[in-house]
Amino acid sequence: MSNVIELRSVRRSFVTKPDLADRIATAFGAKSSARVLRAVDGVDLEIAQGEVLGLVGESGCGKSTLGRIVAGILPQDSGEVFFNDRPIVNKTQQKDGSGLGVQMVFQNPAAALDPRQSIVDTITEAPIAHGLIKRSEARGFAIEALKRVGLRDDALDRYPHQFSGGQRQRICIARALAVDPSVVICDEAVASLDVSIQAQIINLFLDLRDKLNLSYLFISHDISVVEHVSDRIAVMYLGQIVELAPTEELLENPQHPYTKALLAEVPGLDKRLTDEPGLEGELPSPLSPPTGCRFHPRCPIATQDCRSQAPRLESTAPGHQVACLLAEKNS
Ligand SMILES: Nc1ncnc2c1ncn2[C@@H]1O[C@H](COP(=O)(O)OP(=O)(O)OP(=O)(O)O)[C@@H](O)[C@H]1O
Ligand SMILES: [Mg+2]
Repeated sequence: MSNVIELRSVRRSFVTKPDLADRIATAFGAKSSARVLRAVDGVDLEIAQGEVLGLVGESGCGKSTLGRIVAGILPQDSGEVFFNDRPIVNKTQQKDGSGLGVQMVFQNPAAALDPRQSIVDTITEAPIAHGLIKRSEARGFAIEALKRVGLRDDALDRYPHQFSGGQRQRICIARALAVDPSVVICDEAVASLDVSIQAQIINLFLDLRDKLNLSYLFISHDISVVEHVSDRIAVMYLGQIVELAPTEELLENPQHPYTKALLAEVPGLDKRLTDEPGLEGELPSPLSPPTGCRFHPRCPIATQDCRSQAPRLESTAPGHQVACLLAEKNS
């Protein structure tokens, strides 16, 4: 299988404003207070044609930052992102529509839609702007786009507020697909919806993947959402991928203590893991990540080495990679 997306050593930092404590320290003579937060800190990842890659991890670990880099709406500081073997051109710089191949669906469909734009305009704006369809074709095109996501053509001349949350997310999906992408980044795309609606939207994503041979980066803080859709799952912690494996393998044979702790917190997911301790302590600030293995302060099995040595992502079984000094290497 060929890869539609490849990331090589991707990094992205943000310079944060000084908080109150910083300002007081500066007032008492401490040096510069601008601080650098490493949101994504050296990520290598591939997404195969037609694959659903799940990305999980706690709030603030860098999932959305990574998703926005892959979608070309946020430039990385360093490293490379390839789409079909060609570097992704950031959407703020490109004018020729070459970045249309990767589209994004967000958590909050109400905020993602312009309340003053009718549904037909919402769906056809980008394909008209990029010359994919003519203005005279807009209505027919939008009817087909709506049908694809399970909405009727009487939606055409209505406005976002006239729809439910689930229907609005269907409209966002129709809009994303209107430029014929091959990769869709779904960033917490069902998190704002009722549980019963979540299942419908997840099924729609899977159905569309089969029909259109799409690939997804499916981002969620909730591993029980991701496990239903993903072929493989990547686990992220403080800006880095700590474990990556086919879904079944990750659920049945997790190697990283962080993955085990995440799984232990999912009710009824795997009985064997209920013996594992859940997550202890707070997520450390990405402004000053721990030395060595970033998970060591919360890790139940950390040794002295873990405090000083940063583990690399290494294979423990075919297709299974783990960044832990204590993981058993079987291959
Ligand atoms: N534009 C920005 N300016 C400054 N800091 C940012 C910016 N965007 C993200 N961050 C910081 O980068 C880190 C990663 O944020 P990101 O939104 O990627 O996390 P996330 O995993 O998507 O979290 P969540 O599950 O809450 O959506 C966080 O510490 C966040 O505060
Ligand atoms: Mg996010």
